Amino acid sequence: MRDPNTPFRVLAVCLGNICRSPLAEALLSRAAQANGLEWEVDSAGTGGWHVGAPPDPRGQAVAKQYGLDISKQRGRRLKAQDLDDYDLILAMDSRNLETLQSFAAKPEQKDKIKLLLAYAELEEAHGPDVFDPYWDDSRFEEVFLLIENAANRVAEKVRHEWAVNR
Ligand code: 4NP
Repeated sequence: MRDPNTPFRVLAVCLGNICRSPLAEALLSRAAQANGLEWEVDSAGTGGWHVGAPPDPRGQAVAKQYGLDISKQRGRRLKAQDLDDYDLILAMDSRNLETLQSFAAKPEQKDKIKLLLAYAELEEAHGPDVFDPYWDDSRFEEVFLLIENAANRVAEKVRHEWAVNR
């Protein structure tokens, strides 16, 4: 059981930790705040190419357009300890979900790993994966809005479950 006196910790995971998960980090934080939830949110990549790098400039630009400054974030690589340290781990796509699941040794670790769009109940409308905009300049706003919708739904869902189970 997690200590109810510590903030709920959420980790967003993609491949490079420069496009999708930095946006998810900022949008989940904003959604949590809007729902009165005290969350600590971070993001990580399953790949290590962009460790220490700021988010992709195209992602920074769209975030800024929607009132979020993500310029201070820095890329980091997922580590095994993250599976113990976080309460909810949200994979941006099925490939990252598989990597996360392969890291998870204990059932309690497996239980907290979710596919973002499935957990947000957007899988039927959008498929299982948050598409990777890295290779397509034109899709950063679209991916931002998709992640924003999912983040809002996740925060509402957690708030609701918390209210029901307390
Ligand atoms: P992300 O996008 O997983 O949304 O951060 C990517 C960024 C960089 C690379 C792949 C995906 N890369 O191969 O460098």
